[in-house]
Amino acid sequence: MVSWTSEERQFTSSFAQPLRANYPIGIMSRRAKVTLAKLCALKRERQKITMLTCYDYSTARVMEDAHIDAILVGDTYAEVCLGHDTTLPASIDHMVTIAAAVRRGAPSAFLVGDMPYLSYQASIERAIDNAGRFMAGAGCDCVKVEVDRRLVDTVAAMSRATIPVMAHLGLRPQSVHQLGGYKAQATTAEAACRLLEDARMMEEAGACSLLLEAVPHTVARMVAEQTELPVIGCVSGPHCDGQVLVMHDILGFGAGHPPRSVKVYTNLNDALRTAFCGYIEDVQSGGFPEEANSITMSERELARLQGMQRERS
Ligand code: KIV
Repeated sequence: MVSWTSEERQFTSSFAQPLRANYPIGIMSRRAKVTLAKLCALKRERQKITMLTCYDYSTARVMEDAHIDAILVGDTYAEVCLGHDTTLPASIDHMVTIAAAVRRGAPSAFLVGDMPYLSYQASIERAIDNAGRFMAGAGCDCVKVEVDRRLVDTVAAMSRATIPVMAHLGLRPQSVHQLGGYKAQATTAEAACRLLEDARMMEEAGACSLLLEAVPHTVARMVAEQTELPVIGCVSGPHCDGQVLVMHDILGFGAGHPPRSVKVYTNLNDALRTAFCGYIEDVQSGGFPEEANSITMSERELARLQGMQRERS
């Protein structure tokens, strides 16, 4: 039996309230909610679907403002935010909490909750309960599971239970120990045939979309051409219907060394370091805070206070 935390229930408030404007960014323009139907239409119209990972409310607001189509609350959270070497330590509680925060920041993006290690592999019942926490508790539009044909029954059962499932094929980081490392997948003709079959099986099982990680672009193209489902690529070349990357990798943020196929758009590590050093220097030199940055007391209250102090001494 699943019990909801108050944190999980709070996501609904973002639909009812305007985005907080204390740090306005851009125009914060509203747009229609990005739905699964919209993603399918983008594929049909040969327009690319944009997707990034996100792990917090503030960054989600900026992505919402930039009109990203979809956001993946990825279990790479365990690596880029918690400092682990793999995604395995991401917990369902963590993931649902941050998914709800991202939903509050990005009410109109298509939100994908990444089901963490062992939250769906052990039993169908657990898979459905845990997916329900992302859907009903955090306000996700879909959940993502790392699969091959061994989990086709799980995907079918989740789908029957009305849960939209994105099937993540190819390199599956939660299986890193079985796969023998983070290696490109489907690089032989046999392995590629198997991946194409797996993709078909996932579609037949009711998956709503596919994600391909680290497969050759030629194979990714075949998958995308052979299905009506939106196919999102991660380091799988230009022929997929959309692209996803880990936010930290495109921002030059954190300790990761992005794979060569990732494009880096800024160096956030440098920008943050410059800001932190400026702050440290200002505090140490007395340059901050100045009186202008401080809270002032009225002359009248100050005079009263001084009088009280004199009486005491
Ligand atoms: O968890 C994640 O960030 C992912 C992407 C790398 C696709 O699964």
